[in-house]
Amino acid sequence: DEHDHHDGDADHELRVSKIRDGTVIDHVRGGQALNVLAILGIDGTNGEEVSVGMNVPSNRFARKDIVKVEGRELSQDEVDVLSLIAPDATINIVRNYDVVEKHRVERPGVVEGVLSCPNAGCITTGDEPVISRFSVLEDGVRCSYCETIVRDEIASLIDT
Ligand code: CTP
Ligand code: ZN
Repeated sequence: DEHDHHDGDADHELRVSKIRDGTVIDHVRGGQALNVLAILGIDGTNGEEVSVGMNVPSNRFARKDIVKVEGRELSQDEVDVLSLIAPDATINIVRNYDVVEKHRVERPGVVEGVLSCPNAGCITTGDEPVISRFSVLEDGVRCSYCETIVRDEIASLIDT
């Protein structure tokens, strides 16, 4: 049928079931699925219904991760932070089994108040309340106050 060219997602290769209502975060860089879950605050202890595919075949990239969250639609803030670790992700909103919205994530120029600086000497980690601010680089983020650059461990900076 018309979907046969979507080899990676063809029904005979579907790794994780379709969902009824919720969000499919597709085309996540291989290896980043667990960080996606961390950003969304999902660790399974609250009964969330979540399916994860890791390093599954993809047409667009050699391999991709995919995360399907039943019963939840993501906020723009969540999507902004996701873009830092999954810059090529597609966010699909699913209602009654149909994809009703599909959008690529967009990388914001700055993120405020969502990441905490790993530098213990940074003004944002002291006693005075200073809201964190990071500029988004091609391959990481940079604290606007102390210039610390973080590339690989962005998910670990997320304020919870
Ligand atoms: N999906 C799902 N449950 C549904 C509908 C779709 O899990 N009820 C998943 C599909 O398996 C796919 C993603 O959501 O991984 C996007 O669905 P769709 O737009 O139908 O697939 P493609 O056209 O292959 O998407 P793209 O062009 O973005 O790769
Ligand atoms: Zn800092």
